[in-house]
Amino acid sequence: MARPTEDAADPALRSALVERMRFYRELGLTEFYRRAVDQAAHDQDPLEDAESRAGDAQEPEKSSAPSLSGGSASEAENQPEPIALSVQANFFAEEPAIPARKNFSAPPHVAPAVPLEDRAVALRLIREDIGDCTRCALHKGRHTIVFADGSPTARLMFVGEGPGADEDAQGLPFVGRAGQLLNNMISAIGLKREEVYIANVVKCRPPNNRTPEPVEANTCSPFLFRQIDVVHPEVIVALGATAATYLLGQRQPLAGLRGRVHAFRGAKLIVTYHPAFLLRDPRQKKEAWADLQIAMRELGLKPPTRG
Ligand code: URA
Repeated sequence: MARPTEDAADPALRSALVERMRFYRELGLTEFYRRAVDQAAHDQDPLEDAESRAGDAQEPEKSSAPSLSGGSASEAENQPEPIALSVQANFFAEEPAIPARKNFSAPPHVAPAVPLEDRAVALRLIREDIGDCTRCALHKGRHTIVFADGSPTARLMFVGEGPGADEDAQGLPFVGRAGQLLNNMISAIGLKREEVYIANVVKCRPPNNRTPEPVEANTCSPFLFRQIDVVHPEVIVALGATAATYLLGQRQPLAGLRGRVHAFRGAKLIVTYHPAFLLRDPRQKKEAWADLQIAMRELGLKPPTRG
């Protein structure tokens, strides 16, 4: 799923690149362009990727059939309902038709693309900029800043709300029970977790897993936007109302945002339910699967065949 990167430059070149990017950053330059000749190569890659991925997805191994069964973690505390059905049983049994494509709204911001081979370094610089952050009150209760997980060259990105207890402890997004379900959603579309990019609206755990306050989300989300600009995903899936609100810049009920393709910073943005909500109300998984199918369609991915 990750776009192929060229071989890493030799260490001297790479450290020169880090220095150069640091210099640009000090000048206040955080956006980069690449030349048209690279663009043509880039345009070609995703098609090739999609074809080979679709082939892989035709015959999933039984043993790797994705399951929506969650693990046990803190997010499970208020979620007594066990999830027993497999993705195939649950998602494909009553598979809804893929909703008709609706028009995009006007693209609000399209950042110039960072070359594929520079994206990991560019992300590291964003992480350095965050530093040992005290920009909002969330820093008081956190153990770890949860930056992101996954491929810097992913074509698909997931955005959640903010770290929970497990994420705060491990420093990685979506590693608790909701993360287990997200992993299964990713498997259901025929991808691996390491092929996508996962981040949150806020990078520090809100106390008692409460929804981030607007001042917290608005303080932290510029870093998320920079991550999006660097990774340059083709499709972003907003997981839940908080992600949808702060990505789209408008508060609206989820129902009005789902089932459509929105435009966001050069990507196609699709809104679906947060995995933690799906753990509480598994009946909505069918709806979430319909949303994921929109993402697959936009990426040119074919649904895996029944296991
Ligand atoms: N919920 C989120 O929104 N993000 C995480 O990383 C974990 C749980």
